[in-house]
Amino acid sequence: MILIVDFGSQTAHLIKRRLRDLGTESELIHPEDALLKINELKPAGIILSGGPASVYEKGAPTLSKKVFTNKVPILGICYGFQLTAKLLGGKVIAGRKEYGPARISIINSKSSIINKIPKEFTVWQSHGDEVVKLPPGFKVLGATKIVPFAFVHNSKNIFGVQFHPEVEHTENGTKILENFIELCGIKGLTRTINIRDLIEDIKKTVGGSYVIGAISGGVDSTVAGTLAAHAIGKRFIPIYVENGLMREGTADHVRIIFKQFGIVPKVIKCEREMLRRLKGITDPEKKRTIIGNFYIELFEKEFEKLKKTKPISHLLQGTIYSDVIESQGTRHAAKIKSHHNVGGLPATMKLKLLEPVRNLYKDEVRALGKKLGLPDDFIWKQPFPGPGYAIRIRGGVTAERLIKQKMADKIILEELEHSNILKNVFLSFPVLTGAESTAVKGDGRFFGEVIAVRIVESRDVMTSTWSRIPYGILQKISSRIVNEVPNVSRVVYDITTKPPATMEWE
Ligand code: XMP
Repeated sequence: MILIVDFGSQTAHLIKRRLRDLGTESELIHPEDALLKINELKPAGIILSGGPASVYEKGAPTLSKKVFTNKVPILGICYGFQLTAKLLGGKVIAGRKEYGPARISIINSKSSIINKIPKEFTVWQSHGDEVVKLPPGFKVLGATKIVPFAFVHNSKNIFGVQFHPEVEHTENGTKILENFIELCGIKGLTRTINIRDLIEDIKKTVGGSYVIGAISGGVDSTVAGTLAAHAIGKRFIPIYVENGLMREGTADHVRIIFKQFGIVPKVIKCEREMLRRLKGITDPEKKRTIIGNFYIELFEKEFEKLKKTKPISHLLQGTIYSDVIESQGTRHAAKIKSHHNVGGLPATMKLKLLEPVRNLYKDEVRALGKKLGLPDDFIWKQPFPGPGYAIRIRGGVTAERLIKQKMADKIILEELEHSNILKNVFLSFPVLTGAESTAVKGDGRFFGEVIAVRIVESRDVMTSTWSRIPYGILQKISSRIVNEVPNVSRVVYDITTKPPATMEWE
């Protein structure tokens, strides 16, 4: 197996995931436990993840130098590479920054980690620090225009990469990891997700009691809910909150999915009250908290009613791996934003959490949904954030702005659908930016809101790139939005990759 030392990278779990896809066992550990775990588990290789800290900062996570005398191959990624360089006698400074795609040139192919890899390819970077002096004995394998030490090694099979081979947008990233695994002497086995085990797990956990489920209409909670329905039938009670911030038709979708099990979801309508609570709130984190707390309140109320007649033990949620990571699920990770389906719920609900897809990535959840027989159009439905339209409206959320948002959203979806592009995009949505600009409509000059269109492609959510939508379709979307949606002066297209920009604007 391979040990992954987690320095808090947003993508540390992705490394584990890639290894899992390559049929290799691994364990994520904290740097403080490294020596102990090496002795205990005798790994065939070690990967040092990236992380948000700077190696030269006081209190930054570090490692014992003894880790490097272990004679097993080591791959340091980003922070992991910088720490390797520092500990072995190199130098790291707050150097030239790179965020997003960069071209790397392989200038020396003397290592088998480069096997079957082209001379030049695109890698994904996300760093503000830079290794400016290599430790003694290290040689360069590859460089980008910005960093000369983008890919390095020494004769003891210690490797360093400044880029992230684990993210999907790094070309040949998986091949580099595969080559590293081979260097460690590991032969992988193919992993499959076993539906029967997941269902049995739920049965065992729940016993004879009831489960209520927070169903958003999205693929994650529906797959989780479908597993629960298979496991415990009508003892699973799906609850959908119609708070006005979700895409239209979602409640019907939820009803259809659970009909096959003879389950009628409970739909709680609360659009007006939701808007009242969001009145005047402009801070994105406050919006999330208000929406999340309102959710909890409604669930508690429903729970109090239901528990009078039924023994309810668990609350089912469709939390997936990326939600956990981005809500600071690991010790050294920086908090990006709170996902309301991760934090907060258990303490107030007095219910245990049931999260059957917590360890899976989006594409794995989709594959599972397909195996469970969910319809294709549903599996490929775009994910929709828990706080819904509220985080796509910069500034205050009002009934008028919500209507604008819904109209523009529908236009984008319709145009992508007409052009047969919708199935290729991960997310598409408008952002009411809150900025105003001039427009001339008819004879009058007026100031109206700028709407940004965001359309991105991604497989595993951790990285994404903007969709290269044909100009003709962008033109149609733009014309329809300025003509059909009230008080819009301008439409702009967001061409930023993740990293550095997140997909959502808030
Ligand atoms: P970001 O903006 O973090 O989005 O690149 C990644 C994925 O997460 C969704 N997202 C959220 N989902 N609560 C959610 O349930 C949230 O607060 C939230 N913020 C972002 C986003 O739609 C995308 O699918």
